Amino acid sequence: MASKTPTISDPRVSLPGLDLKNPIMTASGTFGYGLEYASFGKLEDLGAIVVKGLSLKPRAGNTMPRIAETPCGMLNAIGLQNIGVERFLEEKLPALPHDTTPVIANLYACDAAEFGELAAALAADERMGALEVNVSCPNVAAGGQAFGQDPKQAAAVTRAVKDAAGDKPVMVKLSPNVADITTVAKAVADAGADMLTCINTLLGMAVDLKTRRPRLANVVGGLSGPAIKPVALRCVWQVCQAVDIPVIGVGGISNATDVLEFILAGAHAVQIGTANFMRPDTVFSIVNELPILMNGYGVMTLDDLRGTLET
Ligand SMILES: Cc1cc2nc3c(=O)[nH]c(=O)nc-3n(C[C@H](O)[C@H](O)[C@H](O)COP(=O)(O)O)c2cc1C
Repeated sequence: MASKTPTISDPRVSLPGLDLKNPIMTASGTFGYGLEYASFGKLEDLGAIVVKGLSLKPRAGNTMPRIAETPCGMLNAIGLQNIGVERFLEEKLPALPHDTTPVIANLYACDAAEFGELAAALAADERMGALEVNVSCPNVAAGGQAFGQDPKQAAAVTRAVKDAAGDKPVMVKLSPNVADITTVAKAVADAGADMLTCINTLLGMAVDLKTRRPRLANVVGGLSGPAIKPVALRCVWQVCQAVDIPVIGVGGISNATDVLEFILAGAHAVQIGTANFMRPDTVFSIVNELPILMNGYGVMTLDDLRGTLET
């Protein structure tokens, strides 16, 4: 570690349409609607709060069991259970510290028109900070392949959301379950995305030898946690080489060192997911540790470090 400097490091970060106190966001689906974690730290200290994925209508999600632990990460097939956009705006958003910390809605739908309708409903609320588009839902009309696996469909969804989002920044969350993530990243950036989030979960499965059954009722699910950090870092690095818009890194981040590694690889900000399940105050402790660690490495601002990885 480089010698300490007397100056205090500044973890603030500027994104399109958003000024953050620090680069630490929560990852959608791992932090509820935010309020569930309010007793573990101050929500207003976070860079941004990304809430559970929202759909136009409430959804019950998949049959249980829908979570399975593996030795290196967790598998989930929650099936996007949520209370729907209307109840979120009425019941949850007012209680979040949206004045001081941007609240970002994560949204998903199963056709482009529905994505547009949902984006319009969220963007019309001035308390919303930004929209994050989850393109991992299968497009039933197009044979069940997820929108995010086809550059053309991902671009169509991006355009529908951008057209409906007014002046709200739009970030599109990419799936790693593709042969070349940069192809989708470029298509989505060309379609007008303001930022990209990298990455969603990796498709995996776990089986039980005793019962001879899959551990998830859905058979397959999304792998997250420490196991996917190297994949996420690789995706962030590749995507940052391919596009000019800011990238938010996510996947297996569980401490401040991980955060600085993602910034070094080119990320503007990061999201903390599964680590919140392991210790519910993780995201708050990372916020506290980050400036101290930056100081230790002589990094005064994140702009100084971003993308300086020598390859
Ligand atoms: C239980 C669970 C639910 C999730 N729900 C969503 C969701 O609704 N929308 C979304 O875009 N990503 C969702 N994700 C993916 C996470 O936001 C994140 O991209 C992924 O878990 C990788 O980060 P991590 O390794 O830090 O958890 C979910 C992940 C988990 C574990």
